[in-house]
Amino acid sequence: MRAFIAVPILMVMLTGRSCRPSNAESPFSYTIQKSVVAGNGAVVSAHPLASRVGVEILKQGGNAVDAAIAVQLALAVVYPGAGNIGGGGFMVAHLQDGRNIAIDYREAAPAAASRDMYLDSSGNPVMSLSQRGHLSAGVPGTVAGLFASLKYGSLPFENLIRPAIELAEKGFAITASEANGLNRLQEDFKRYNSSKTAFEKESGWNTNDTLLQPELAETLKRIRDNGQKGFYEGETARLIVEEMKKGNGIITRDDLMNYAAKERTPVVFDYKGYTLVSMPLPSSGGIIIEQCLKMIENKGIEQMGFHSADAVQLMVEAERRAYADRAEYMGDPDFYKAPVARLVEADYLEKRMADFVPGKAGSSESVKAGQFPKESEETTHISIADKWGNMVAVTTTLNDHYGSRTVVSGAGFVLNDEMDDFSVKPGVPNMYGAIGTEANAIVPGKRMLSSMTPTIILKENTPFLVVGTPGGTTIPTSVFQSIVNVIDFKLSPSDAVNKPKFHHQWLPDEVFVEEDFPAATLDSLRQMGYKITPRGKIGRTEMIKIKKEGQEYRLEAVADHRGDDAAEGY
Ligand code: GLY
Repeated sequence: MRAFIAVPILMVMLTGRSCRPSNAESPFSYTIQKSVVAGNGAVVSAHPLASRVGVEILKQGGNAVDAAIAVQLALAVVYPGAGNIGGGGFMVAHLQDGRNIAIDYREAAPAAASRDMYLDSSGNPVMSLSQRGHLSAGVPGTVAGLFASLKYGSLPFENLIRPAIELAEKGFAITASEANGLNRLQEDFKRYNSSKTAFEKESGWNTNDTLLQPELAETLKRIRDNGQKGFYEGETARLIVEEMKKGNGIITRDDLMNYAAKERTPVVFDYKGYTLVSMPLPSSGGIIIEQCLKMIENKGIEQMGFHSADAVQLMVEAERRAYADRAEYMGDPDFYKAPVARLVEADYLEKRMADFVPGKAGSSESVKAGQFPKESEETTHISIADKWGNMVAVTTTLNDHYGSRTVVSGAGFVLNDEMDDFSVKPGVPNMYGAIGTEANAIVPGKRMLSSMTPTIILKENTPFLVVGTPGGTTIPTSVFQSIVNVIDFKLSPSDAVNKPKFHHQWLPDEVFVEEDFPAATLDSLRQMGYKITPRGKIGRTEMIKIKKEGQEYRLEAVADHRGDDAAEGY
């Protein structure tokens, strides 16, 4: 049942192809649907073709995990600026048998990486090295993550990868925003690649041009035929290592062979009668939303009103304190012992908010990380729910838009620039302005700290919400707002996702707001002493709200209006 009329975005002037009727749903003529109410399954992702692939898998009898694998592979083709096989990600899922799982396939530092590898001889950071080109790439994790997820699915892998191979081989029409994004990066593609990539076009890209990726199709076929080894060994590994040699990259065959996805214990906590399940370290996301929600839990935010200055101030002050802790304490748990249990203790969080003064701006000069006795933007999110009660939230990333801008020659996929998510030097901000310390310093094999926050929520042990977003350090604060919008302010999923957002991350000590944030609220916040900084869009949130009706589920799926994101269901 469709609750919302699809918005046609593509007419059909295709390079080298005849026009087709605009209502024919094909990779060359499709629509973007922003919301849907479904009874059997729903998928929300950054691209309509990928969301459709997910629903097709559900219709074939696949479950939400099968659909998540197929959607990630499809996004690697139709949304190559963030969807990927050359990056990494996290999956959080609630399975119909009651289990909650978290799979970590974050990129890792190569064995030859070292703490000061991005500093010049005077000890100054050279951010172009951690953010662009071969040296900025961590060892990719996505393909290992797909195979680690496969045991929770039910369909053969061949079925899940087939749509991606077809899209790469036969091509698809690009949207206006993809054409704009590709045009902006033409110089970078030339600078960071020695052979011409599928993403370059001398005359410039136009809406509805066909993007063909034959080399990527061959790589996907090797993965189909050889499984994980089709990426981490053999021809694909050889091509990655060859590519590294062209640009002073350091990923070796051993780095690729040694990479493994890891199952982690998810962050699970209660908030006002709901159970939240989110990603643990090496993502800071789950801990940050637990800290933020617990810091506001007994402050009566539901009475303050949505977007009121009081509510925004309370949430900003919680964010300030959580991000101060992030900078000091969070990193890969296999390399640095973060005081996770203490960071979310009720007593600790109450003390953290003891100096909160309603109506008066806090200061990041006085609010530092909490103290303990010594112990030790471009991302994309997928939300899926099926008719059996499985819920899957996946956030995956290349880091920046088109990652390192380096495409593995002969293999056709973009490499991440995730090394920039490490703290390249204590106190030096990364591309998101986030700073870090020892906890997130570079060590061979270590995974860089992330903000990705794939999250699912249960109400009385029954599926209730699947949510997540891209956006670097704005990810946890966007997810935090979406959850408060639904649980405390009772907003509809569409409003919870689409209303203007704000963000505070301790340093810089500014409240970032979307351009259309209510002016009266901003005036009040300025009077309290906050520095307000308008900025571009925050988050592209994908949400599914679930209601159990008898033995069936009603799935209300919403795709963020900020991008080409699309909701599909049946
Ligand atoms: N690269 C963005 C993140 O993982 O937080």
